[in-house]
Amino acid sequence: MIIEVVLGTTNKGKVKEFSRLLEGVFENVISLSDLDSPPEVIEDGLTFRDNALKKAREIAEYSGKLSLADDSGLEVDALDGRPGVISARYSGEGATDKTNIDKVLAELGDNPNRKARFVCVLALVDPSGEELVVEGFCEGEILNGLRGEGGFGYDPIFYLPNMQKTMAEIEPELKNNISHRANALKELRAKLDIKS
Ligand code: IMP
Repeated sequence: MIIEVVLGTTNKGKVKEFSRLLEGVFENVISLSDLDSPPEVIEDGLTFRDNALKKAREIAEYSGKLSLADDSGLEVDALDGRPGVISARYSGEGATDKTNIDKVLAELGDNPNRKARFVCVLALVDPSGEELVVEGFCEGEILNGLRGEGGFGYDPIFYLPNMQKTMAEIEPELKNNISHRANALKELRAKLDIKS
C-alpha cells in the first residue's frame, strides 16, 4: 500500500469523497489544509489535464509528497465543448452558479442538440517525477431551465436520462457514485491496483 498522499484541495466535501473512494489505496490521505502555507496554484491551463498536472506538480514539489489534484467542468457539444476549463468563471468576473447557468442557457437557446458531459481529470504526481493521469466522465443533457435544489454548479440544468432527474435532484450518495469525479477515482484505483 502507498503510504501517504496529499490532495490538492481544501474543499472538505472533496476530501471526504476522495478519501472514501481511495480507501485501501493509501494509508493516509491529507489535504492542502494540513500543509503550512501551501502554494496557490493558478489554473491557467488550456485543458483539464494541464490544470490538474500543474496543481499536482507544484504541490508535490512543495510538500515532497505524492500529490493528487483534479480539475473538472462541463462540456456542452453544441457549444464546441464550452464552458470547459473555464466552467467556474464562465460568465466573467463575479461569476456565480446562477450567472454561469444563465449564460449556457442563453447560448444554447432552443438548439435541439442538448448533449453534454461533466469531465474530471486527476493527476497523481510523485516528487521523483513519476506521473499518472486519468479521466472520468458523466454523460447527460442540458435542460431549458433549472430543476432541483441539491448539488452545486451546473447540477440543476444537467439531466441524467437514465435517472429521469437532474444532478440537483438525485441523492448526494448517488451523485458520489456516478459522477465524473467518482468515475475518475475508480479509474485511478484500477490503474494503481494493477501497478501494485
Ligand atoms: P472544480 O475543478 O471541481 O473546481 O470545478 C470547476 C467548475 O466546474 C465548478 O465551479 C462548476 O462550475 C463545474 N463543476 C465541476 N464539477 C461539477 C459538478 O459535479 N456539478 C456541477 N458543476 C460542476
